[in-house]
Amino acid sequence: MGKWFSRLYDPFMAPLEKKSFKGIRQDLISKARGNVLEVGSGTGINFPYYVNAEQVTAVEPNPDMLKKSLRRLKNRDQPIHTHVGEAEDLPFPDNTFDTVIGTLVFCTIPEPDKAFAEIRRALKPDGKLLLFEHVRLEQKTLGKLQDILTPLWKHVCDGCCLNRNTLNMAKKADFHVENVQSMYKGLFLTIELTHPNT
Ligand SMILES: C[S@@+](CC[C@H](N)C(=O)[O-])C[C@H]1O[C@@H](n2cnc3c(N)ncnc32)[C@H](O)[C@@H]1O
Repeated sequence: MGKWFSRLYDPFMAPLEKKSFKGIRQDLISKARGNVLEVGSGTGINFPYYVNAEQVTAVEPNPDMLKKSLRRLKNRDQPIHTHVGEAEDLPFPDNTFDTVIGTLVFCTIPEPDKAFAEIRRALKPDGKLLLFEHVRLEQKTLGKLQDILTPLWKHVCDGCCLNRNTLNMAKKADFHVENVQSMYKGLFLTIELTHPNT
């Protein structure tokens, strides 16, 4: 994984964050309660928004991204523990977390089905999985365009796929869909899911 990605990520995202992502993150992350796991925490952009969590465990495979996130750990009320790790292989016992958070991460996780299964295992039976993701568009031509652009985009953007159908993958993993909100004509979704055993 390139060091340049961790260096450029925050500056590249800054205009979008300011315009709309900040509000979306604030809303979604404020719903994270109890013992929280964040997968693919990147540069820690969500850390300031954990206002209702008791404690947060953040897992991120890219050590350079993780290092960048450390500056966002200062002056916090809730403890946030960071670990190098992957969503497909979570080093936590079954039924550990009340909430799992993933933002702009299921586009990049190499084995998303495995990650959903691992999250399901680590989540308590009454737990919630809260996602904010960009997804493949339903509109046929635009969806096809995303398919065509994905190999190049994936190469440039550290494994990010433009054409993942994350909502379908969550359903396939048996999560219950509680709420879906669509933004930018369906390009971005916030998805609130509950554990299959709820
Ligand atoms: C587009 S960035 C998003 C970062 C952050 N979640 C955000 O909302 O800005 C995708 C992140 O997913 C991480 N990632 C890649 N493979 C992963 C995996 N197998 N498990 C968890 N995270 C992964 C990347 O290292 C990167 O930090």
